[in-house]
Amino acid sequence: MSAKIISGTEIAKQIREELKKEIKELKKRHGVTPGLATILVGDDPASKVYVGQKEKSCNNLGIYSEKINLPGDISEKELLSLIEKLNKNSRIHGILVQLPLPKQINESRVIYAIDPAKDVDGFHPVNVGKMVVREKCFLPCTPHGILELLARSGVQTEGAEVVVVGRSNIVGKPVLNLMLQKRPTGNATVTLCHTRTKDLVFHTKRADILIVATGHPKTVTGDMVKEGVVVIDVGVNRIGKTPEGKAILVGDVDFESVKEKAAAITPVPGGVGPMTIVMLMKNTVEAARNSIVE
Ligand code: GUN
Repeated sequence: MSAKIISGTEIAKQIREELKKEIKELKKRHGVTPGLATILVGDDPASKVYVGQKEKSCNNLGIYSEKINLPGDISEKELLSLIEKLNKNSRIHGILVQLPLPKQINESRVIYAIDPAKDVDGFHPVNVGKMVVREKCFLPCTPHGILELLARSGVQTEGAEVVVVGRSNIVGKPVLNLMLQKRPTGNATVTLCHTRTKDLVFHTKRADILIVATGHPKTVTGDMVKEGVVVIDVGVNRIGKTPEGKAILVGDVDFESVKEKAAAITPVPGGVGPMTIVMLMKNTVEAARNSIVE
């Protein structure tokens, strides 16, 4: 069997078309232009690319964007005071601080400083807590993007054995929570595996849906999965450069061997990545809508 490719690029395009209509409507009926501030501290090449993609997506959709680049040696106090200003800025509905941050800055304190109503990443503990108990909140972009990929590809999750590999706050833990909930793309039996899991292959072989977010290439190979599995590869690993100087990207899954057994699989690039960005846009539009006092 050779797998169906689940194209995040295509699905993200559909969602962008839906968002364009919503943004036009917000401007016409309420005079509101959604606004996103992105903060990049330092010059990590991968982070630079991600923030650049987010800004480009804003421009493409008609979302106002402020890109703030700060030197890598900025103090935590300076960053917190910038966030305070953005919290009060009525043109800005969403604030995104690109992670990871340099060592001298405490990430938790920074996330806590963002007004939960502008936390379009869904990282603030208020939003995380609301997500867990299923109250209205901003869902974190990558897990939300994964749910949309599954839903829009017609993958049934109810009663499915979902195995997640990787326990990060950004992907593993939220995806576990969302997929076990009684929601359309949920109602699954979810197992979360991590670096101390005794027998990883035992779990990956049982999976109907396998979500891999370990941050390491080839964590999962063809011999570790069953025939007909649906595989979502969250990883983006830079393993070198082409002669033209372009980064060579691979996921956390060994695409070539796994695609021979899977029913469907996301590619890297062009799978989860574009979904993360479009869900950020969706959250920013929602934040703008929430700011309207009727
Ligand atoms: N670093 C890696 N992924 C993300 C993300 O989704 N949001 C932010 N702010 N930083 C990240």
